[in-house]
Amino acid sequence: MTLQSRAGGITGRPKPVSAALLVSLVILGVILLVSPAIARSSSEPGTKSDSKCLKCHSRKRNKTLKDGDVLSLQVSKTEYANSVHGDIGCTSCHQAIAARKHPSRESIASKRQLSLTLNQSCRKCHAKNFKVYESSIHASLVAEGNLMAPLCTDCHSAHAIESMAVYQPVTGLPCKKCHENIYEAYAQSVHGGARANGNVIRDSHIQAPICADCHQAHGVTAVAASNYLQSTCLDCHPDASLAHRQWLPNAGLHLDVVSCAACHAPLAERRINLELYDNTAQLPVGQHNDHAQIKKQLHAIDETGAGLDPLELWNLVRANSEDGQETDITLRGRMEVSTGPEAHRLAIKAEAVRNCDSCHHKGSDAFQNVVVSITRPDGRQISYEADKEVLSSIMSVASVRDFYAPGGTRIQLLDVLLVLSLVGGLAIPLGHITVGKILKKRTKQGDQ
Ligand code: HEC
Ligand code: HEC
Ligand code: HEC
Ligand code: HEC
Ligand code: HEC
Ligand code: HEC
Ligand code: HEC
Ligand code: HEC
Ligand code: HEC
Repeated sequence: MTLQSRAGGITGRPKPVSAALLVSLVILGVILLVSPAIARSSSEPGTKSDSKCLKCHSRKRNKTLKDGDVLSLQVSKTEYANSVHGDIGCTSCHQAIAARKHPSRESIASKRQLSLTLNQSCRKCHAKNFKVYESSIHASLVAEGNLMAPLCTDCHSAHAIESMAVYQPVTGLPCKKCHENIYEAYAQSVHGGARANGNVIRDSHIQAPICADCHQAHGVTAVAASNYLQSTCLDCHPDASLAHRQWLPNAGLHLDVVSCAACHAPLAERRINLELYDNTAQLPVGQHNDHAQIKKQLHAIDETGAGLDPLELWNLVRANSEDGQETDITLRGRMEVSTGPEAHRLAIKAEAVRNCDSCHHKGSDAFQNVVVSITRPDGRQISYEADKEVLSSIMSVASVRDFYAPGGTRIQLLDVLLVLSLVGGLAIPLGHITVGKILKKRTKQGDQ
């Protein structure tokens, strides 16, 4: 499904209804009207056995679990009856209970354990959603034992599930429950504002997006895993690529190496993220194999708390690119905002950063924060602080092949050195020693 049609679906644009269906709906309506036996009152759940269950379970009742937690066994009759599942029967999800003596007095380890077991029941009727969910970052976190990551019922509840048609469009639920500060930033954004005001681009049916429109509801993936989010933006803003070309030279390059939010969240703190990238596998380091050595080195450096300095970074990259090693590591740079919430504080276009100087001049704020990151197999990045000097050091420039903002924080002398080393064919290790000396000198000067 494309995003636009998803977004269209949420607006509730009427779907074409066939005449035959209309006729049958009318007939059904008449039957329901004349037959009180079929038309159940909206507060009485469907089947007979449901009222049996509810006889006991509509009352206050608790069960103490193995971990000491107290589970309330009460189920609201009204909420359940008004839910989308009012008619399917308690036992269509609670099959185990129908199958044997109840109450069983069987012990339950924890609330989470009960949810983990009973959520499997959703699969029976919602196989497609279930499968998509299983591919999500949330599901991988659940599988790793993360107690904060959502199961179906953490987002939908177990007994009060409402039709999507009545989901309030601006509340941010269910995502807000766990990503509150992101929701707050979003609510102040051009999208959150537009959504609150009725949503639509003038002359268009496209709704302003809320969480699931950009991240998907069930197939949520790690944001660093791919550039799917950028193409999601461009799906709704097909003219944006062209619009940037009007004023921005190398617009394609900029859109590749500068995140949309780095310009469109104008007040956000920005940083440079240098991702360790495995050229041999054509994947970020850590995604396909565990690169134990690099991780060990990074952790060791991180423990000192001082951040990676240029020499350490150089050693890291070089030591893992040596002949005979299976990997060829390089760095891929990207300018992004420093925090997740800030990525959502997108402003109107008039406020976007367009001043070349804000990036292309010495000492530009964006180049003061640098992180070096590796990627976990689930796609999430782990970032390590780095000394901003790594950007201006010759050895990282040599490996940050496609990322270097002219006039950024680079030191003139090093520019010259780089040119010399390239033109003169200086071996990199020599450059490395030279720069090591220069850096030491600079550090000393800095101390004064
Ligand atoms: C759509 C599936 C579904 C239906 C239908 C359903 N349940 Fe549940 N029920 C669950 C799940 C899943 C849990 C586990 C708790 C969670 O994940 O929130 C649960 C938990 C419970 C619990 C344990 C207490 C609690 O709330 O966690 C009771 C009691 C219960 N259900 C009774 C009922 C009764 C009575 C009905 C019918 C009126 C019913 N259920 C219908 C899915 C369902
Ligand atoms: C006679 C009263 C009674 C009826 C009828 C009843 N339950 Fe229960 N139910 C209980 C009690 C008591 C417990 C707590 C058992 C315990 O403490 O071990 C319980 C526990 C549960 C639990 C929590 C998990 C567990 O096994 O302890 C679920 C889910 C549940 N009932 C669902 C149902 C469903 C669905 C029905 C209808 C098919 C139903 N109950 C009918 C009394 C009842
Ligand atoms: C992280 C929160 C979250 C989790 C976990 C989640 N959902 Fe959803 N679900 C949503 C949201 C939000 C929607 C609203 C529709 C949309 O934006 O796609 C939705 C819509 C739905 C719908 C109706 C629309 C459709 O796509 O058919 C069904 C059915 C559904 N979910 C079932 C499930 C099941 C089954 C699970 C567990 C496998 C699950 N959901 C897990 C958030 C979640
Ligand atoms: C026995 C089959 C069955 C089971 C099991 C079941 N559902 Fe449903 N579900 C339905 C039916 C039927 C509907 C109503 C479909 C409709 O209105 O289009 C529905 C509707 C929904 C909706 C609203 C869809 C919409 O388009 O508005 C959500 C969300 C949902 N279910 C989630 C769940 C979750 C979560 C579980 C597990 C806890 C679950 N369901 C278990 C049959 C089931
Ligand atoms: C307009 C599209 C869009 C919307 C709407 C949106 N996001 Fe995001 N989200 C993004 C982008 C893009 C990123 C990645 C930012 C980056 O790294 O440059 C992101 C990042 C994230 C992250 C990772 C943050 C981190 O710490 O790295 C989470 C969690 C998240 N979003 C949750 C949400 C939630 C919850 C909502 C709803 C309140 C939401 N998003 C709404 C586009 C969106
Ligand atoms: C029950 C809590 C809960 C709910 C509800 C929830 N999430 Fe999450 N989500 C988590 C946790 C925990 C993580 C892992 C956080 C981390 O990476 O530190 C996570 C991670 C994410 C990530 C990946 C962040 C990254 O580092 O790449 C995104 C994107 C995301 N959630 C979006 C959503 C969206 C969209 C919704 C609503 C449809 C939602 N979440 C609902 C708990 C939740
Ligand atoms: C280098 C900074 C920069 C980057 C990176 C950037 N933008 Fe922009 N963008 C701007 C500026 C400045 C404007 C306002 C131009 C104007 O006023 O004509 C703009 C305008 C827009 C507009 C309005 C276009 C119109 O029709 O006038 C959209 C939509 C947009 N950007 C989306 C994006 C998306 C999506 C991305 C990421 C893929 C992105 N931008 C990346 C600076 C940037
Ligand atoms: C589901 C469609 C959708 C998606 C996805 C989406 N947008 Fe938007 N966006 C809109 C709508 C609708 C508006 C118009 C709000 C209004 O009425 O002013 C908008 C407005 C904007 C504006 C302000 C334009 C102006 O004229 O001032 C910017 C900038 C923008 N979006 C950037 C992004 C970025 C960056 C992403 C991806 C992270 C993104 N959008 C994803 C629908 C979308
Ligand atoms: C938000 C920060 C930002 C803004 C604003 C910005 N740039 Fe850039 N620019 C970058 C980054 C980062 C690169 C990547 C450099 C690289 O890959 O070598 C870049 C690359 C370039 C390049 C290509 C250099 C090369 O080596 O090919 C040119 C030319 C350029 N920018 C000019 C401009 C001009 C002119 C403007 C203003 C109209 C501008 N930029 C605005 C961040 C920015």
